[in-house]
Amino acid sequence: MAVILANETAWPGLKSGIDRIDECGLDIIEAMIRDIEAASEVHSVGRGSWPNMVGELELDASIMYGRTLEAGAVAALKGYLHPISVARAVMSRLPHVFLAGEGAARFAREIGAEASNLLTEASRNGFDAWVEGNIPEKLRERWPECSLVEHAWASLDPEEVGGTTCVLVCDDFGDCSAGVSTSGWAWKYPGRVGDSPVIGAGCYADNRYGAVGCIGTGEMAIRVSTARSVILYMKQGMCVEEACREAARDYRDLSGGVIRRVVIHAVDRSGSHFVLAAGADEGTRYYVVEEESGRFEERISETMRL
Ligand code: GLY
Repeated sequence: MAVILANETAWPGLKSGIDRIDECGLDIIEAMIRDIEAASEVHSVGRGSWPNMVGELELDASIMYGRTLEAGAVAALKGYLHPISVARAVMSRLPHVFLAGEGAARFAREIGAEASNLLTEASRNGFDAWVEGNIPEKLRERWPECSLVEHAWASLDPEEVGGTTCVLVCDDFGDCSAGVSTSGWAWKYPGRVGDSPVIGAGCYADNRYGAVGCIGTGEMAIRVSTARSVILYMKQGMCVEEACREAARDYRDLSGGVIRRVVIHAVDRSGSHFVLAAGADEGTRYYVVEEESGRFEERISETMRL
């Protein structure tokens, strides 16, 4: 019986997920995330997202297939509407796993991916308001033609945990797959890459155990390899809940840098799932679609203080 687990931001993709529940997990993930990437009201995935410090949108995405452990990822991709499809094409058409920046854009162009100006009026206005509120007046005239370094801490991501989207599927064919897509940390330093396209940090799937996707502060998930850690804790014999809790405990070893929230989403190969908002006092909404019922349920995650 197929199960889809998706975070709150995934709501524009839920209909596609329900309609495709009997299809292969990679197809379900790609269809759902494409809908989310195209939804301009979601300001942290695809079109209409908040840009980086210089007003440009750089998108990250990855996808992983648990049967073969094949994966594809793109980072800092500019000008293409569906980074999740470009990531899947990296997996299926190249001998590589991960493309970044100019190379990712070149590949997107060569495979005929849909080019698009992703900045909407709302995202441009959001950027202008950020510059106005955070950059000293004397610098604004020549912004961003100046050093950005000392302004990188000027604003922490307003979307924080609700941002990135992740979709996990254990499908009718016995396969577990994971997909993640995001514009990353709003007002980030150009070229900043979060956990979403980093296989093992924001995304991992292995049919023997399950699938994992993270949202929130990517820097934390990268530093302790959260998604793969959850899988490895399951490999050591922990159930999905205990594996997520153990992976979250790893954040307690972090000091320095930005320590905020990460929401870990995990589903095991039997379809049991667990979602944990680490570093949060309040749970985070997520959705579960189960083939048997043919509809989605909205649930709230557990929390863990760090
Ligand atoms: N978790 C998404 C990011 O940090 O970019």
